[in-house]
Parts: sequence; structure tokens; C-alpha cells
Amino acid sequence: MFRTHTCGELSIKDTGKTVTLSGWVQRARDMGGMTFVDLRDRYGITQLVFNAETNASLAEKANTLGREYVIQVIGTVTERSSKNPKLATGDIEITATSLEVLNASATPPFTIEDNTDGGEDLRMKYRYLDLRRNPLKNNLLNRHRVGKAVREYLDGKGFADIETPFLIKSTPEGARDFVVPSRLNEGQFYALPQSPQTFKQLLMVSGFDRYYQIVRCFRDEDLRADRQPEFTQIDCEMAFVEQEDILNLFEGMVKHVFKSVRGLELPEIPRMTYDDAMMYYGNDKPDLRFGMRFVDLTNTETKQASFKVFDDAAFIVGIKADGCADYTRKQLDELTDFVKRPQIGATGLVYIRCNADGTYKSSVDKFFNEEALKAIGARFDTKPNDLILILAGAENKTRKAMSELRLEMGNRLGLRSKDDFKPLWVVDFPLLEFNEEDQRYYAMHHPFTSPKPEHVQWMIDGVNLGQIKANAYDLVINGVEIGGGSIRIHSRSLQEAMFKTLGLTQEEAEYKFGFILNAFEYGAPPHGGIAFGFDRFCSIVIANEDYIREFIAFPKNNAGRDMMLDAPSDIDAKQKQELGLK
Ligand code: AMO
Repeated sequence: MFRTHTCGELSIKDTGKTVTLSGWVQRARDMGGMTFVDLRDRYGITQLVFNAETNASLAEKANTLGREYVIQVIGTVTERSSKNPKLATGDIEITATSLEVLNASATPPFTIEDNTDGGEDLRMKYRYLDLRRNPLKNNLLNRHRVGKAVREYLDGKGFADIETPFLIKSTPEGARDFVVPSRLNEGQFYALPQSPQTFKQLLMVSGFDRYYQIVRCFRDEDLRADRQPEFTQIDCEMAFVEQEDILNLFEGMVKHVFKSVRGLELPEIPRMTYDDAMMYYGNDKPDLRFGMRFVDLTNTETKQASFKVFDDAAFIVGIKADGCADYTRKQLDELTDFVKRPQIGATGLVYIRCNADGTYKSSVDKFFNEEALKAIGARFDTKPNDLILILAGAENKTRKAMSELRLEMGNRLGLRSKDDFKPLWVVDFPLLEFNEEDQRYYAMHHPFTSPKPEHVQWMIDGVNLGQIKANAYDLVINGVEIGGGSIRIHSRSLQEAMFKTLGLTQEEAEYKFGFILNAFEYGAPPHGGIAFGFDRFCSIVIANEDYIREFIAFPKNNAGRDMMLDAPSDIDAKQKQELGLK
């Protein structure tokens, strides 16, 4: 038997017991006459003592142990004379009577401690060592708990877990596909699914009614903190439901997960239309942990002062930072530099201070007198000591820049607390979005999303396309898009109209999507669904952050590489030849 107990479970009540433990050497200290070893496993750390006076050869052996050696020890549980309250097993130690080295270890390239000295790339290369550290280990164990809670909930609601294929047909929409060459069909390729979207709809046609799958998805897109080329979705679909049914059922799931993993009772999740989210937060995933809503200043007092920047602007928007009128020149310059960064792209920042005595002072005093500033201030319900920040320019760009500035101010003012969770349903998304570059409409969610019933005719007639709304919704938590879904099209003719709107010819639609168009002719029920980004959900539930790599066992780096495997890599000439590749 390798062990009778784990390294995390022995306590004062076990004193006197003879136990066997196995684990990794966290640290060994020769104190002259006594050698102390911290033995670690998944469950914790237990201190071992080797006494040279009572067993000299054993203590000598203990002194040869290096970091991360795998050992087995037999000994007696003894009360410690100096207890360590920081350790769960800190009241006891094991007085060792036998020691066996199960495996030696090379010196690890970084310290296996909560705060390591290893750089990002090194830790990725030795990911199996990094995963021994508590923060990462706990993330993965908590990820398991999130998954378990999700399965518990969905199982309780009658959802069936059904697998769908990974080798499918390339139908790029949104991101690029990863493709896999076929040996048996030379010159042809499978694609890896960006999501099981069409399969889950086909399962509804088959009559499964309630489907879910915690499933890997693949997207060849640029990577960010909250994006990986392969990631996991909690993918769900239901038949005979309306939007309301879906929002309620999955609100229940989110609450169940927060309760079982964090012990938190979330209140009812509020809803906001896409239009309001854009108007008040400049963003379809607003962080509601703080206010600072946008105030639209286009066509107001701003236009009456012959201030060219405002006069030439299609859009003028401001936010108010409470109590920030005492911002120094340096702080305001920092904010100006922030909005002028190329990624944000604003040309400058206008500020208006409301002084403690209620008078106003601004960066545009040359153009605006006290009365005009006061009028602008009134639009924000300004109080003494408040600071107004204003951006002006082209509409979309300015809105986006202000959205970034708002988040930056939230960070600076400590308003984005890690202990605060503000989930939100964003509803009534537009069905289509116009792409200026390609001069065509794209589906905002995906091409299987149904227009709202009252807008179906617009799509069929090809009118008011930009105004068509969909029963499409996103779940946002603290400014992170956690999930998205929609009510689907379930008739062939409407699906054909959608493809036509997206610029597909009938032949292209048939070639790419014939299978689902055909299925819709065989009794497709009304249906809809949602998919949650499982990695993102875990990172928010567990740590309230959006850096998903820390919640994935073996992630890719920012260049899409697996540093440990050194993949992607070349393949040999024979493999290429078999696959018909040059
Ligand atoms: P969507 O494309 O919105 O919808 O994806 C659903 C959720 O998946 C997560 N996500 C990602 N997470 C990590 N890395 C990525 N590269 C990545 N891309 C997306 C997000 C997102 O909200 N089939 C539809 C769902 C449906 O309509 O039912 C779909 O895939 O959290």
C-alpha cells in the first residue's frame, strides 16, 4: 500500500497512529540533528521529522532528498511543539521510521510555490510542474466543481448529454475554421467545429427536446486574454420553447453554479436591450459593477460655442466621475494619453471640473463660459467635486473609446471589485450587422438565428435590414460575455431567405447548408438554445477574472502555440504525401 492517508488530512486526533504517506518533497531542511521535510500531495502538506539521534541512517537518507523527489514514508503522528496555524496539518508532524525514494527529480526550472519565480513561457513549457502549484491546481479542481454543478442542474431538468462530431464540413462564419486533410479523400478537408450549432439543431429535429454537451470548440482567430483557439462550451438546445423559457432556465443554472461553487445567492438577473447597452455603456457587454453611464451631448450646448472639435463631431459623449474634480494635471494627462493610444484612437480628451464651491473650470474655457459649462454639467446631474470627461468624433469609434475610458476609470477608482458579481442579460440584439469593408450584411449572432416575428417580413422583402431585431441574447457578467444564444429559424423558406440576405446564392446555400435545409422539411420543431463559454464562466465564477488560460490544464500561448509540445510543427514528408499535401 502506497499510503494510508493523504498529506492534507492528519490532525491532533490522529496522534500516536502509525501512518504511511506518499508525495513530493516541497522542501527539506537539515537543522543539525533533525531533518524536516515538507511532504506535498494534491490535498496538502504534512511535515516529516527525521531524528539523527534515534535513527542516524534514516536521517542521512533524508538529507539526500531534493526538491520534488517522490517519496514514501512510514511514521508516527506526533503533536508538534511549535504549531503552524497556517497549515491544515500544522498541529502535527510525522516522526519517520522508514523512507523510500519512489523517484528522484531533476531540479525544477522554477519554484513550485504559490508565487513562483518562473516566467510565462517557462511555466507553459513545464505545465505539468506549474499545475503542481496551488493556484493552478485549485483552479482546475474548481473547474471540475463548476462542470459537476452544471451537469447536476441540467440533468435535473431532463437534458440529455449527446456527443456530436469533431470532423465536419468547413462552413466558416464568424471565425476561420481549423481544417484537417483527409487521407481517404485526397485533396479534401474536414473542418473542426467552431461550435456544434447545426448538430444540436438537427438533434431537435430528431426529437431530443433538451440537449446539452460540455464540448470542445475550435476557432482560428486572434487570441486575447479571454480567447483560446480551442475552448469549451456548455452547449444547450431546447425544442418547443420561447426566449423567456430559455432565459429563465439558464438563469437557474447560473444561480445554481454560483451557489454550489461559491456559496453565493445571486439576485434575479436584470435585462437590458442591446440598444440601451450601446447607448449607456457604448458596449454590448457592460460591466454593471459601477455606474458612470454615458450622457449623449451631441446636438446640445456643446455645439453652440464655435469649438471646432465639437462642431465637426458626429458624436459627443461624456461620463461623470464622482468626486474626481481634484484630479491633478498629471492624472488628466495620463487619461488623455490613455484615450490617444492607437488601440483606442481618440484625438483628445475634454474635461470639466465642478469645483467645491460649485463653479466650473474646464480644458475648453476659451470656448465655454461658466453658464454653458453649468448647462452641460446639469445634464450629468453634477455635484461639487465631480469631474466630467468628454470625447468627440466619429460615432462608433468615439463610443468605443468612451467605453474603454469608462472601464479605465472604473479600474482607477477601484469600482471593479473581485467580490462583486453583476450578471446581466443583454436582449434584443440586431439580427444583422453591416460590414463597411465588404459592403454586405453579416449575421450578428449566426445565420440560424430567427428575426423577431414582427420583423420577418422585412427580411423576406429585403427592407430595413439594419433594424431587424432577433430573439438573441447574451449573458454578461462583470463586462465579460459568458454566453450567447437565440431562437432559431425552423423553416426552410425562412432559412433560405436568411442565406440570401447574407449574400449566398441558392447553390452556395445548398452546397454549404443543404443538410439543415433538408432537415427543416421533415418536421422541425420550434427551437432555441444557448452556449456558455465554459472557460470564461469558470474564470469568472472561481476568480472573477477574464484570463482564461489559468483555468485550462494545457492551454496555448498568445501565438497559438503549445509550448510544451512545441506544436504546431512540421509533419514528415511521407505523412504529407499520404495526405496529398505538397
Ligand atoms: P458564441 O459564438 O457566442 O455562440 O459562443 C458562445 C460562448 O463561447 C465563448 N467563446 C469563447 N471562449 C473562449 N475562447 C474563444 N475563442 C471563444 N469564442 C467564444 C463565449 C461565448 O459567449 N453556437 C452559438 C451558441 C448558440 O447560439 O446557442 C455560439 O457558439 O463565452
